[in-house]
Amino acid sequence: MEISGIRKVKTAVVGCGMISNIYIHNLSQLFSIIDLAAICDINPAAAEEKGKTYGVGRIMSIEEIAADKEIELVVNLTAAPVHYAVIRQMLEAGKNVYTEKMFTTDLAQSRELVKLAEEKGLMIAVAPDTVLGAGVQTARHMIDSGLVGEVTSGLVSVTRDQNLNSETFKFLQKAGGGIPYDVGIYYIGALVATLGPVKAIRAFAAPGLRHRKQLLYDTANADEWTIPGNNLITAALEFECGALVSVHFNGNAVGAQRNIIQLYGTKATMDMGDPDSFRGEVTLTFPEAEPVKMPFTHGYDGVHVFDHFPFEFYGHRGIGAADLAWAMRTGRTNRLSMYYGLHCQEILQGMDEAARTGETYYVQSRCEVKPLAAGYYSSNGMGRGRADAERSLID
Ligand SMILES: NC(=O)c1ccc[n+]([C@@H]2O[C@H](COP(=O)([O-])OP(=O)(O)OC[C@H]3O[C@@H](n4cnc5c(N)ncnc54)[C@H](O)[C@@H]3O)[C@@H](O)[C@H]2O)c1
Repeated sequence: MEISGIRKVKTAVVGCGMISNIYIHNLSQLFSIIDLAAICDINPAAAEEKGKTYGVGRIMSIEEIAADKEIELVVNLTAAPVHYAVIRQMLEAGKNVYTEKMFTTDLAQSRELVKLAEEKGLMIAVAPDTVLGAGVQTARHMIDSGLVGEVTSGLVSVTRDQNLNSETFKFLQKAGGGIPYDVGIYYIGALVATLGPVKAIRAFAAPGLRHRKQLLYDTANADEWTIPGNNLITAALEFECGALVSVHFNGNAVGAQRNIIQLYGTKATMDMGDPDSFRGEVTLTFPEAEPVKMPFTHGYDGVHVFDHFPFEFYGHRGIGAADLAWAMRTGRTNRLSMYYGLHCQEILQGMDEAARTGETYYVQSRCEVKPLAAGYYSSNGMGRGRADAERSLID
């Protein structure tokens, strides 16, 4: 489509905590479709600090954002328990919303928000937006190009010491801090973005281990605690495309995080890199050949070509909001749609439910994640110029 003359989308960020650093940086610098007009936090000092650091002039309250007719898109970076209230308030004010994961902490609330957005003709986008990064998009392109053949099965495993991690990242001590919702969601998102929706689930699960404080210098923690919910889950997912995928999330393991995400096709086996990053490498292994690392077919590889700043390892976060902004201007639906968010949430909650009941959980929701156009990269001018990968977001 013709892109000159496209009006930027006035956008506000709500929630100026840890992850807002990368979002505010990227939304104000990387995406020409976004005009980051305001930032907001329930704690105004937090918003003021980010405003100074990233040169975003306008600090607004959430009521002021709701009342501002020019702000069309709100990027919700509050913690998950607050998501429902913030998204609802913004939808009621007529704003489109991008939200960090999880969509909400309760499936019924997410369904209610989907209904409200449908009634109001608004869009919601839901993280993780790493699935729009070079790694997952390249994996999807390998499947769509026919190189992998028909995917018959898959194997996903993520292990880490979530109990020990929860000493440093204290929000993990609360509901949603177990490995499935904190980390597993990136893997579920990647599976849905490459294979499509899940039909049915069987699972077994175990809670977090009672954790005794190890970091003696940290006086802010209790002496011992248990992360609520399941912190170890093994599940079998049946995808609508027919693929059967084994999932193993173990937050009761020790040592550094280890990840496996492999898809087995009728022509090749595909290893994907960590989908909790934008640059998970894709390796294809064909019969009677050595494994071959595939070049990225897409941009948004998480590398910041212009600048180096402390949060750059968070990659190209913001791409899901930019995709939504382009969708608003071109009249298409956004890729990380509310149906994607709802479906990923239902898969994780379905795993819990299947483990609890010992029965098969049949997934009600469905979604389709349209891939990005291939062949646009995040750098030009010998790796130093402005990205043109944004062109892959237009249609
Ligand atoms: N920190 C990470 O590494 C990381 C990575 C990926 C995704 N996320 C997701 O991003 C979200 C935020 O995470 P975080 O680590 O930045 O959390 P955080 O606790 O550091 O920041 C959340 C901010 O939201 C503000 N807030 C709370 N309620 C509010 C309200 N009603 N209105 C306005 N502001 C409000 C808080 O004051 C706080 O500044 C979560 O959904 C999390 O799952 C975090």
